[in-house]
Amino acid sequence: MSNAKSDHPPPAIRKKVTAPAVRARKGGKPLTMLTAYDFPGGKVADQAGVDIILVGDSVANVVLGYETTNEVTLDDMIHHTAAVARARPSALLVADMPWMTFHVSPEETLRNAARLVREGGAEAVKLEGGTPRVEMIRKLVSAEIPVMGHIGLTPQSVHAAGGYRVRGRRLEDARRLIDDALALEEAGVFAVVLEGVPAILAQAITRRVSVPTIGIGAGPDTDGQVLVMHDMLGFNFGHYPKFVRRYAELSGEAVAAIDRWIRDVDRGSFPSEEESYHMIDAAALELIDEPSGTDRAIGH
Ligand code: KIV
Repeated sequence: MSNAKSDHPPPAIRKKVTAPAVRARKGGKPLTMLTAYDFPGGKVADQAGVDIILVGDSVANVVLGYETTNEVTLDDMIHHTAAVARARPSALLVADMPWMTFHVSPEETLRNAARLVREGGAEAVKLEGGTPRVEMIRKLVSAEIPVMGHIGLTPQSVHAAGGYRVRGRRLEDARRLIDDALALEEAGVFAVVLEGVPAILAQAITRRVSVPTIGIGAGPDTDGQVLVMHDMLGFNFGHYPKFVRRYAELSGEAVAAIDRWIRDVDRGSFPSEEESYHMIDAAALELIDEPSGTDRAIGH
């Protein structure tokens, strides 16, 4: 067991992080955003002191075992967001809008985002895409739902893009992403995620927009960083992208711990006296020698 002390104040006295507070961090102390999908995930992320907890639609891959994020539904996202919200984090709680919940019309987008806020407890929503999403973002912002943008490698575009590829390597593509970032800023996002883009492009976007950029696979020159919790803790059974730094190897540790428990049960060393409940008086021993229930019932 570790006695390591954290530099962060205990969660009870941490100030609540809000969307305007995140917006105001542009160019300041780097922002940290981590995904979480359930109550314990929300607790550990918040106790460690992240600024933002994202209930990402990556829940599809890392928790629910789906191939793509497009399989996750609005009800799934509400269920997971509500679980994290019950951890009552000081961090800002952002929920991803799943695929096809912000594509049909601004009105439907607003109804769906409102469910994430009212039923899930989200304090802001994130949605993928650039210029084509501007109308939807404006609708949410005018209804006072804070919106985080997300451009670059947008996993929900997997079929249209033909896979998960780094975006903006060519000048023309890079310029389009800069225009997208400016369009999102203009539409009123309070921050924008840059995923899977060259570091130099992320730096260029970060310089141009007045809202914080939060990078994942986007190099060091953004206003903040985001990682998927199960990736950084080594608890992902899929592919680890090259930008993931693993700070723990929890899947290996979990298998080893369960294996030790199986061996303890096999050799009868689990549970011990201390791990068992005991009757109050010594007469308990008599129970052992008493006739069995069936014997008593037939009058022996
Ligand atoms: O769903 C997710 O986890 C995300 C992050 C990778 C930004 O969108």
